Amino acid sequence: MLEGLKIAVYVSGGIAAYKIPDFVRSLIKAGAQVRVAMTPAAEQFVTPFTFEVLTKYPVLRDQSTYPDPVGHIHLADWLDLAILVPATANSLGKLVHGIADNEALASLLACNRPCLIVPAMNNKMWDHPATQRNIDQLRQDGYYVLDPAKGFLAEGYEGKGRMPEGQEILQAVMALATISQQEQRLDLTGQKIVISAGGTQEAIDPVRYISNHSSGKMGLAIAHVAALAGAQVTLVRTPSARDLAVIPEIQLIDVEDAHQLQTAMTEEVQEADMVVMAAAVSDYRPAQVAEQKIKKDKSQVSNDWHLHLVENPDILAGLPKDRALVIGFAAETQDVEKNATAKLVRKGADMIVANDVSRSDIGFGTDQNAVTLVTHQDKRCLAKTSKFQIAWAILDMAQSIQK
Ligand code: PMT
Repeated sequence: MLEGLKIAVYVSGGIAAYKIPDFVRSLIKAGAQVRVAMTPAAEQFVTPFTFEVLTKYPVLRDQSTYPDPVGHIHLADWLDLAILVPATANSLGKLVHGIADNEALASLLACNRPCLIVPAMNNKMWDHPATQRNIDQLRQDGYYVLDPAKGFLAEGYEGKGRMPEGQEILQAVMALATISQQEQRLDLTGQKIVISAGGTQEAIDPVRYISNHSSGKMGLAIAHVAALAGAQVTLVRTPSARDLAVIPEIQLIDVEDAHQLQTAMTEEVQEADMVVMAAAVSDYRPAQVAEQKIKKDKSQVSNDWHLHLVENPDILAGLPKDRALVIGFAAETQDVEKNATAKLVRKGADMIVANDVSRSDIGFGTDQNAVTLVTHQDKRCLAKTSKFQIAWAILDMAQSIQK
């Protein structure tokens, strides 16, 4: 998913540096070409040799060991995307003030491509006004700064300061790579966007349910692109989407069935500027949920077991449309565009993303999709591409809709 992208990973000296070789591997596995720069303090936690083995390229640490005599500029000119991870309070402060007292920081100063900063430090250092001022300044200067996660710190107690997991950072990298490849700027600063993802689970009894093949990948891609474009994002996700990594700034609401999803969406839409219903909602649910596991016993069920189903509420159709821009999907196996256009009108949405789910290479569970965006004014076909690219196109088209 990062094929052909040149990524430079700048490692500064925090304990989370020990996790970076694994993160570098995941970037390489996703198709990126990776080079690494290290501050002297980072070398206290992990050796340059580890990165050299993984990336097959010398680490930028001093002029004498790098192939180019002006190494810091060479690396800055080579990269498409820079990542400072873990970003210590010290390195953040230096970057804000343009202090380039090591090769890694000098190279970051020379970098004019998108840069993702992933701070990790003790919670009290994170909360310090100086750190917060520096974070604000870096954001104003155009850096993409991830929030640290809350959790167990190296100091042995809980707090906000942990480096997000590698898979979470990877989601941010994919979203940022997508945003930075586009000619048009996507700026969602100040917008509140609510996105649903995954397949609802309608209980039959305590161990069985009715569901579908939705993995949540499409909804998560939209959530990450929106968050990296500056939106405040709430993700309402079903169990099938809970294994997917999510960056800490995305607010999570976990639901299981259509009724819980409806409650969450109806609540969240009140304050939202945009709602995206990417979740695959079961149209029907069992009329009754058995309290105990239904046994294969002739007194309870016969040879053909008939489940009595009742209709679920249509969440999308029932959402208020006065304030938020409302976007739905249409998962179709035939007459895709015709059915999507009918859904646009019937459900009162501002946009429907028509999704051909008869193909196994797109739609459910895949990393790629091909869709047609249908609005009341316009139609845009998107050939097969990554779900992150589709997410960008949906959000970009949404910007052009006049409410
Ligand atoms: O999650 P992935 O594995 O990445 O797969 C992505 C996807 C194929 C699930 C996604 O792209 C998609 O198409 N989602 C919508 C699936 C769906 O329920 O489609 P539908 O045509 O049945 O419903 C139309 C719209 O109404 C959808 O926005 C749906 O969320 C909404 N709906 C449906 C039924 C219902 N009772 N309430 C609803 O709000």
